[in-house]
Amino acid sequence: MTMEVLRTRGELERLDALRGQGPLVLVPTMGALHEGHLSLVRLATKIGPVVVSIFVNPTQFGPEEDLAAYPRDLDRDLELLRPLEVDAVFAPDVDQVYGQPGEVTVEPGRRAGGLCGASRPGHFRGVLTVVAKLLGLVRPDVGVFGRKDAQQCLVIDQMVRDLCLPVRLIDGPTVREPDGLAMSSRNRYLTGRDRERALCLQQALRQARRLILAGERDPDVLEEAMGRELAAADRPDYAAIRSVPELRRLERVQGRVLLAVAAQVGPARLIDNLVLEVRDGKVSETGLLDTTRTADGKE
Ligand code: PAF
Repeated sequence: MTMEVLRTRGELERLDALRGQGPLVLVPTMGALHEGHLSLVRLATKIGPVVVSIFVNPTQFGPEEDLAAYPRDLDRDLELLRPLEVDAVFAPDVDQVYGQPGEVTVEPGRRAGGLCGASRPGHFRGVLTVVAKLLGLVRPDVGVFGRKDAQQCLVIDQMVRDLCLPVRLIDGPTVREPDGLAMSSRNRYLTGRDRERALCLQQALRQARRLILAGERDPDVLEEAMGRELAAADRPDYAAIRSVPELRRLERVQGRVLLAVAAQVGPARLIDNLVLEVRDGKVSETGLLDTTRTADGKE
């Protein structure tokens, strides 16, 4: 089987040959692929024919952020995807995705208000606008997103529900380095001491989980404990516990909850999270998105 590499909107017509061979699955990425992306692709190939998009979306980067430095190596990405039975890669230029700049954008809902939404103004507008475009261009039945970007998953989920988009969303688990660091394209900015200090995000989450397992249910106590671990970073951003899927502050930790951390470590802004189901004294790791919705959007 050959993997088609599609560069233009017009070439997407070739995806019609894949429709009807099972649910068409889109795995949107910004390239610089690592094992985390590849695990999403493997998950996707179990569902149906797979399209991976590779597009560094300029509108989700703030003016002071790393758009110019963001790693780009399409040839390497294609080599990593070839053995995985990917049917097509959509790797457009900016002008294939954005016709006239500044026209219609997608305004995120309430779930984008805190966490990364608070420290990266405009970020989720950019993410939703490009994801809406990719869904419109590729017209997949299923979209697969990485759970590491938990708020992104939940903000996209709200867009899909509120705009009645006919796509089912799945969140794939975070893949970690052997020492626990969550895989991220931005990890390649980390060297030496920064790489070691990056582990403080994972330590913050582990500490909170330990406390929850020991019976702690007060979100303030847990956020403070995570914050203490995060102090090893250059600029801790947030250490937060929120409800899933609404991302509301909690009075008490119970039900499905997101433990989320973000911090600047050296040149890299890193995020990590843990999704837990806390019920009747039991604590287990779980996913973010409701997988009961069918491809036509029905519950
Ligand atoms: O998670 C990412 O890589 C990006 O935010 C996405 C979803 C591909 C949109 O540009």
